[in-house]
Amino acid sequence: MNPFALYIHVPWCLKKCPYCDFNSHKSPEVIPEKAYIQALIDDLTQDLTQCQARPITSIFIGGGTPSLLSASIYHDLFEAIQQQLVFAENIEITLEANPGTVEQQRFIDYKAVGINRLSLGIQSFNPKQLSILGRIHDATQAHKAIESAHRAGFNRINLDIMHGLPGQSIEQGLDDLTTAIMHNPEHISWYQLTIEPNTVFYKTKPTLPSEDTAYHLEEEGFARLHQAGYSRYEISAFTKPHGASRHNLTYWHYGDYLGIGAGAHGKFTTHQGIFRTQKHRQPKEYLNPEKPFLSEVKEVTQKELLFEFMLNTTRLEQAIPIDLFSQTTGLDSAILLSQIEIASNKKLISITDTHWQVTPLGRQFTNDLQALFLS
Ligand SMILES: C[S@@+](CC[C@H](N)C(=O)[O-])C[C@H]1O[C@@H](n2cnc3c(N)ncnc32)[C@H](O)[C@@H]1O
Ligand code: SF4
Repeated sequence: MNPFALYIHVPWCLKKCPYCDFNSHKSPEVIPEKAYIQALIDDLTQDLTQCQARPITSIFIGGGTPSLLSASIYHDLFEAIQQQLVFAENIEITLEANPGTVEQQRFIDYKAVGINRLSLGIQSFNPKQLSILGRIHDATQAHKAIESAHRAGFNRINLDIMHGLPGQSIEQGLDDLTTAIMHNPEHISWYQLTIEPNTVFYKTKPTLPSEDTAYHLEEEGFARLHQAGYSRYEISAFTKPHGASRHNLTYWHYGDYLGIGAGAHGKFTTHQGIFRTQKHRQPKEYLNPEKPFLSEVKEVTQKELLFEFMLNTTRLEQAIPIDLFSQTTGLDSAILLSQIEIASNKKLISITDTHWQVTPLGRQFTNDLQALFLS
């Protein structure tokens, strides 16, 4: 059976970062924790009237800044979820935490309520870069957060690090990566900064490193990660053996997931078809009892299915079974094969009798590769 995941969105942050286009809002003085948890539970109940429940293999609590909420709130939430959904054995439960919002006791408490993977938003260890990025933490807090997470007993830790930052040199980018590696996390997400519409950076247009600098930083960074025992399994995701994020793999394998919380997206399969859901983005609207949680539910058309499937699976480094397409979309794999032959002729994908895989050239031109499946 295809994995089935649950995404939970927490839409508040202490401060909005100038590069961020996630659904995050400045937190009120007092976060309405109890009302929000009740809304999440009701939201889940409503989703489950539309799709058939199966045991969930992972939960990802993302944001926003989920570490603004206390462990006892997550305890209550998990108990309520388990009245509606079965937790699969070895369920992966990840929480995104921001340095500057956590101290050791909070990590210990998170672990005690069943959270077994932490994703820490470090971004950089460089004081100047942290300030340009508008982060609420400094370098000391970044180091402390990682050490506290280790000491609290978390062995599944991801560090989010960004590169290609305003004015960043190759050496500075590599320093951040080397410092992250030194902390020996199981997983590193190494994202290149993108300038998104509706962000402060989009208006202020900071000077980013040249394409050439970005290219050389990436090449050297990939080599360092590899030498340190991290394998790249997705565009920006690197892991020690067996440490891949099961939750993210569900997205990239075009699996099903429910998305609850303000602005959360979901995707699920029923006998009628494949549906995408989105919830109201504004916390006030989401919490308004007069309004439904859902802002949109939409069936994915046959034409969109192939594109969406390829958009997700081409992010992965590993070979993908040809059958995964029919398993997840219900469509004939012949539709996929005729299209990937075009990519194979351009040397962007290689094909065997049973699998296909993005080539190194395809990885260099992932956007062009994905665009082949648009028509
Ligand atoms: C859901 S976000 C936020 C997690 C957490 N609130 C934080 O900022 O620490 C997950 C990660 O996406 C990355 N990210 C956010 N905006 C980005 C951008 N414009 N370009 C590249 N990476 C970005 C950051 O590394 C961030 O930690
Ligand atoms: S803390 Fe994270 S989610 Fe919040 S504004 Fe900054 S990048 Fe966005």
